[in-house]
Amino acid sequence: MKDKRTHHCGELSTDNIGEKVVLMGWVQRRRDHGGLIFLDLRDRSGIVQVVFSPEESEDAFKVAETARSEWVLEVIGEVKRRPSGTENPKIATGEIEVYASDVIVLNRSKTPPFYIEDNIDVDENLRLKYRYLDLRRHKMQNIMMLRHRAAKAVRDFLDENGFLEIETPILTKSTPEGARDFLVPSRLNPGEFYALPQSPQIFKQILMLAGMERYFQIVRCFRDEDLRADRQPEFTQIDMEMSFVVLEDVIGLSEKMICHLYKKIKGVDLQRPFAVISYREAKDRFGTDKPDMRFGMELKDISEIAKKCSFKVFNNVVKNNGVVKGINAKGCAHFSRKEIDDLTAYAAIYQAKGLAYLIITENGIKSPIAKFFTEEELFEIVKTFDAKAGDLLLFVADTYEIATTALGALRIHLAEKLDIIPKDVLNFVWVVDFPLLEYDEEEKRYVAVHHPFTAPVDEDIEYLLTEPYRVRAKAYDLVLNGVEIGGGSIRIHKRDVQEKLFKAIGLSGQEAKEKFGFMLEAFEFGAPPHGGIAFGFDRLIMLLADTENIRDVIAFPKTSSGRCLLTEAPSSVDEQQLKELYIKSFGRTIRTGDKLNVELKEESSKTEE
Ligand code: AMO
Ligand code: AMP
Repeated sequence: MKDKRTHHCGELSTDNIGEKVVLMGWVQRRRDHGGLIFLDLRDRSGIVQVVFSPEESEDAFKVAETARSEWVLEVIGEVKRRPSGTENPKIATGEIEVYASDVIVLNRSKTPPFYIEDNIDVDENLRLKYRYLDLRRHKMQNIMMLRHRAAKAVRDFLDENGFLEIETPILTKSTPEGARDFLVPSRLNPGEFYALPQSPQIFKQILMLAGMERYFQIVRCFRDEDLRADRQPEFTQIDMEMSFVVLEDVIGLSEKMICHLYKKIKGVDLQRPFAVISYREAKDRFGTDKPDMRFGMELKDISEIAKKCSFKVFNNVVKNNGVVKGINAKGCAHFSRKEIDDLTAYAAIYQAKGLAYLIITENGIKSPIAKFFTEEELFEIVKTFDAKAGDLLLFVADTYEIATTALGALRIHLAEKLDIIPKDVLNFVWVVDFPLLEYDEEEKRYVAVHHPFTAPVDEDIEYLLTEPYRVRAKAYDLVLNGVEIGGGSIRIHKRDVQEKLFKAIGLSGQEAKEKFGFMLEAFEFGAPPHGGIAFGFDRLIMLLADTENIRDVIAFPKTSSGRCLLTEAPSSVDEQQLKELYIKSFGRTIRTGDKLNVELKEESSKTEE
């Protein structure tokens, strides 16, 4: 059967004047001018105005009289130039209109719960419940198209560079990336569970051992963690792995891929190579390992001055191996008491115990703590921050970790408040020289900063068991405008090093064997040196589409409580299904409005006895 449709609405132009066309689409809007009816017809490509007049066709006019928003129509008509003075420069097809000679109603529609327009002000939950209507909006369709084109650009690039796209299992074993696993019970193996992959990390390494040399996958990953604006429980990675490479190779190829992507999608030529900063320098200067370097307001350390001054809070902290760091909020000397209190409360979210400040004015320094500093000390501080009259200096005294993190967050918060972040700048930076391990206070053991397959820098291997904190990793993260868009590493490919690392993170020989025995064994059959990286595809699309909400770039996303409002997943299942899986549920979700509570079932206490 031949496609009846001859054109797409948004593609018609003055070139088509005089042509007879068949269009398919949805009614965007109907305007009844008595003798004439105008319908805006919408499809994926855009909108065109269709004119119905009784002179042209009595039948079509009658149908148009009854048509309503979101009805689905087939329109047959002729393209004409709009009468002079009635053009609409706001739409691409604004110079023409289609005179309908026939119309067929393919389907009717109830009145939609919100307008299918770009700038709607509706509760996001309503949009998510009626996602098929939300996705009809051009803004959303454009993002989906952009996402498609981005995936294609990545595929084409990697294909041209010798990468094979290979699928890896979804029902698998725990893949440690630092989040909780989603578990799936196995009916055929009572009491046992698959884990959904947090990433294909282990499989992609096994593929290198299998001689595939270059692998990639645009792949779904699952992480049961608390959600934020740029996090989803299932999200997509551009996942890559290469054999016989060193760190610079992976970084170089990744940059080329990102450049290709930006060229294809945005038509922009990015400057290569991207900037590189060490983990330590990023923390020192920006208070985070995801530095947004589009603006200044860098952190400065005044511990040396603080040590000498007579402000007890400051010098006690420094005496106890802490630091005093600060930022210069330029031009903020006019901030009210309330504004400073708000900043203090903001810093407190990141565990800062206070926020000391110095207000620099034409007539000297105003501050409740100024009296604890000598003239010279104040002068030193002003010099350190290059402070001028009108500036506000803010300080946190605490452990290095808390002081940097709190000020790093405050820096972003203030920059947003002051609106000083340049919007049209793309600031890519590689963060390197990460520590391999960090001490986890809660777990009372060292944990991998990335994941436990990351290779230590060769000369640091000897410290793995004796001084784990000083071992550097062959790892790299790519940060764009303060967002971590990718991360990877050169991997361990020798059994003895991998075993040492497992030991350093507190896995006993037995546990390591149970969890990763197959991998340790595989390393003994000629494992090539290898490394790779994974990019957060959704985050890349967010940045390419210029949206701050990860849900906007995913067709069917979850809410912050992990729910799909369209299908109402997750949902309870019947007892029989649970029985077949040898599962007993002890809790029940109680939903009151937006609040979720868990009710424990009575049997739970009985079973526990
Ligand atoms: P990592 O855990 O850094 O590395 O993940 C890679 C990238 O995935 C994105 N990302 C997320 N995006 C949305 N929602 C989430 N919940 C989420 N979690 C992560 C981030 C991140 O940079 N296997 C390693 C990669 C490797 O070593 O090759 C890994 O998964 O943009
Ligand atoms: P206090 O001595 O507690 O009255 O605090 C005096 C000033 O120092 C207040 O502005 C506090 O917010 C600030 N302050 C207290 N503790 C700290 C800290 N650890 N770091 C930075 N400022 C602090």
